[in-house]
Amino acid sequence: MGPSPDPAASAEAIEREVSQRIAPDAALLARLKATRQRLVERSEAEARRQQIPLVRTVIAGSAARGTFLNDRLDIDCFLLFPPDTPRERLEKEGLALGRALLEAPELRYAEHPYLRGTFEGFTVETVPGFAITDPSHPLSAVDRTPFHQAYLAAHQSPAMVDEVRLLKQFLRGLGVYGSESRTTGFSGYLVELLVLRFGSFRSVLNEARSWRIPVHLLEGRPPPKGVPEEVALVLVDPVDPHRNVASALSRRNLGLFILASGEYVDRPDRRAFDRLLPLSIERATALEKIAQRGTYVVGLEMDRPELVDDVLYPQIRKAARALAAEAERLGFVVVGVASGAGPKRALVLLETTSERLAPVEVRKGPPAGIDRTGEFLSKWSATGTDVLQGPYVTEEGNLGVEVLRRTTNVTELLGAALGRLPLGKDLRERVAHARVAACAELAEGPDLSSALADLLAKQLPWRSWSTAP
Ligand code: UTP
Ligand code: MN
Repeated sequence: MGPSPDPAASAEAIEREVSQRIAPDAALLARLKATRQRLVERSEAEARRQQIPLVRTVIAGSAARGTFLNDRLDIDCFLLFPPDTPRERLEKEGLALGRALLEAPELRYAEHPYLRGTFEGFTVETVPGFAITDPSHPLSAVDRTPFHQAYLAAHQSPAMVDEVRLLKQFLRGLGVYGSESRTTGFSGYLVELLVLRFGSFRSVLNEARSWRIPVHLLEGRPPPKGVPEEVALVLVDPVDPHRNVASALSRRNLGLFILASGEYVDRPDRRAFDRLLPLSIERATALEKIAQRGTYVVGLEMDRPELVDDVLYPQIRKAARALAAEAERLGFVVVGVASGAGPKRALVLLETTSERLAPVEVRKGPPAGIDRTGEFLSKWSATGTDVLQGPYVTEEGNLGVEVLRRTTNVTELLGAALGRLPLGKDLRERVAHARVAACAELAEGPDLSSALADLLAKQLPWRSWSTAP
C-alpha cells in the first residue's frame, strides 16, 4: 500500500476482520434457532399445564434477529398475557412460568419483576408483558418490544445484520452502547433503526459526523410530544409515534459518537472497536495529579441504597448536579464533577479550584432610601458581630458589609448544606448516612478509581488509538 492508504479500502478490510471476530458462528446460530423454538413450545405447554392464560410467547431482541455480539448473547423471552390481566396476576404468573422454564432463575426488577436464568445453556430473560394490539398505547414498558421484533423482521435484510453488529461494537469501544440509566448510551434497537435508515455501518458514521445536537431524524414525522429540552437525538419509534427511541441517550455520549464517526471515516483504525481508555485511576495517583493541578477534590459517599441501577443512577447524577451548584453558589469554582456506584456505595466527586474560600464574605444590603436600611445597619453595627469592614455604600448605591466567614472549607460547607440539597428522593431519605469528605479520606475501591478516572483522565478515546498496544 502507498504512503496515504485509501481510507475506504482500509476501513473495509478492518470491518471484515472485526465482523468475523464479533459474529456468532453458524453452529451457534443453528443451536440458538432450535432453542428459541423449544422455548416458545415449552412455555406454551407449561402455561396450559399450570392453567395460566398466556396469549403467546415472543422471542425478541438481538437473539431473535442474530444481531447480537458473540460475547453478549442473551435471549429476551416475552410472556404475553391478556391486556385485562391485573398487574399482580401478571407478575405472579409470569414469574411462575419463568421459574418452570429456567434453571437457576434469578429475580430482577425493572418496571415489574422478571427472571434471568438459563435454558439449554443459553442465558434467558423471561419478561411478562401484555399482548396489546396497539403499540402506541402500551400498558407496560415492555409491550412495544414484540412490535419492534415484527417491524425489524419485516424490514431488515440479512446483509444489515453484520452492519448492526459493527455499529454496536464501535459504540462499545466508545463506552456508549446500552440504554440503561448507568450508561445513557445507544440501545440495541436504536442501532438497528440507524442501520436500517442509512443502510450500513459506515453510512451511519458518514451521516453522524456532521450531526449537530439536538439531532432530529424525523423523516417528515412530527416530533413526539413532551420531548425534553435537553434531548440529544430524536428518532420516532416506527411502532409508536409517541415514543423517542433515543430518549435515554445523553448529549455527551452523542457528541462523542459524532466526533468518533468523523475520526474513523477519515482515519479508519481497528482499535476503534476496542475499549482502550484507562477506566480507573488509583487514589494515590489521583492525589498526585490533584496536587499538580493545584485543585481540590471532595467526595460525597453513602451506603448504596437497595435500588436497581435504573433508579439509582439518575439520582446519583442529580446529587452530583446539586452538589456542584451548591459549591458554585457558595463561591467555589467547580472544575469537574463525576459520580458512580459500587456494590456497597454511591459516590459523587467534585473538583474545585481551591479547598477554601477566603475568610471574608461580602454581604449585599438594601439600596439606600428604603426602610430596611435601618434593620441592616443595626444588625451589622452591633458589637460582637464579625464585621471585617463596613457597613459601607457600594458603587451601585446599596449598603454592603464584609464579615468574617467562620467555615471556609468546601468539605465542611457542603457537609452542612447536604440536608437541604435536591439529591433525588431515595438519596435524600438516606442523607443521614451520607458523608462529605476529602478525596484522601474516601475509602479506596474500584468505584472510587473509576470516578477518579472520569474526573481526571478525560480524553478523546481515539487520541489513545495510536499509543495503545
Ligand atoms: P435489549 O436491551 O436486550 O436489546 O432489549 P437488544 O436489541 O436485544 O440488544 P443486545 O441484547 O444489546 O444485543 C431487548 C428489546 O427490548 C426493547 C427493544 O425492542 C429491544 O430489541 N428495548 C430495550 C427498547 O425498546 N428500548 C430500550 O431502551 C431497551
Ligand atoms: Mn438483548
